[in-house]
Amino acid sequence: MADKKIIAVVGATGQQGSGLVKAILADPAGGFAARAITRDPQSDKAKELARLGAEVVAGDVDDEESLKKAFAGAYGAYCVTFFWAHFSPEKEQAQAAAMARAAKAAGVKHVIWSTLEDSRKWIPLSDSRMPTLMGRYKVPHFDSKGEADEAFRAAGVPTTYLLTSFYWENFIYFGMGPKKGPDGVLGITLPLGDKKFPGIASDDIGACAYGIFKKGDAYIGKRVGIAGEHLTGAEIAAAFSKALGQPVRYNEVAPEAYRGFGFPGAEDLGNMFQFNRDFADEFCAARNLDFSRRLNPGLKTFGAWLAENKGRIPLE
Ligand SMILES: NC(=O)c1ccc[n+]([C@@H]2O[C@H](COP(=O)([O-])OP(=O)(O)OC[C@H]3O[C@@H](n4cnc5c(N)ncnc54)[C@H](OP(=O)(O)O)[C@@H]3O)[C@@H](O)[C@H]2O)c1
Repeated sequence: MADKKIIAVVGATGQQGSGLVKAILADPAGGFAARAITRDPQSDKAKELARLGAEVVAGDVDDEESLKKAFAGAYGAYCVTFFWAHFSPEKEQAQAAAMARAAKAAGVKHVIWSTLEDSRKWIPLSDSRMPTLMGRYKVPHFDSKGEADEAFRAAGVPTTYLLTSFYWENFIYFGMGPKKGPDGVLGITLPLGDKKFPGIASDDIGACAYGIFKKGDAYIGKRVGIAGEHLTGAEIAAAFSKALGQPVRYNEVAPEAYRGFGFPGAEDLGNMFQFNRDFADEFCAARNLDFSRRLNPGLKTFGAWLAENKGRIPLE
């Protein structure tokens, strides 16, 4: 351990961070050690990471001093925020800035910041094609991450800006899986028109991040994007049909309709899908599949992910 480079992982018990911890632990000869940061080292998930070989330390992104301690002595840090835990762009930006300052103070040599596009660079607030939300955002959970990029530059910490993609796990945990229509036929409902949409198995985000750390300085100061596959709504439905052995249709809806679905975050997600749809070529180009596979040769396609996970998808 002493001769290994420590990667301190925020959100280590969550979807992105756990993928990185597992990727590091799966490569004992790779020269890296995993330090899992959690608010509760005694939780079952944290104990499981310790059992697998990770160092587990306490840390909270709302507590900068705890982050400095958690980052101390680390070569690298994976920094991610948890928008859906609080729905506050301002809180997310404060947490990102605290991580950036703590990483600088701890002398971290390479941060990977899990970010997304600031959609306002494509759709300014004055653009009426989608509503402005929370006063100054179009896609709050994207815009606040994109805006927080500046905190890492301002802190002067060597950073790779990692553009992630929609997790296919949202079909399991986020209520986005196939649902039965009035005729009993399953359907997935997305406002994507006929455009390609990048998705990824959430574990592969961490595995790609590990690939970035293994490349040393190559991506420091760069903005890189990853995805497992770019698929249209119809292609997603076809893959579901094949995996589940029953028809799944693509219910194309307008972003306005999606924004009105009423669940927490529906407006934010309606704007997100519209942004992804209207700028699909650029959004996909920023998430090159060959590049993602070079970072992570085990990168899954949607079909491979479905084959492993179809039994976990609630079919309502
Ligand atoms: N869903 C998607 O498709 C998607 C796609 C791209 C990007 N994202 C972004 O991904 C982010 C969430 O990442 P994730 O999915 O990996 O999260 P997650 O699975 O919800 O995991 C959250 C983990 O972070 C830890 N955590 C929560 N609050 C914390 C705090 N205050 N301090 C320290 N740790 C804290 C928790 O661990 P402990 O309880 O152990 O502390 C928890 O296990 C969001 O900002 C979202 O916008 C999501």
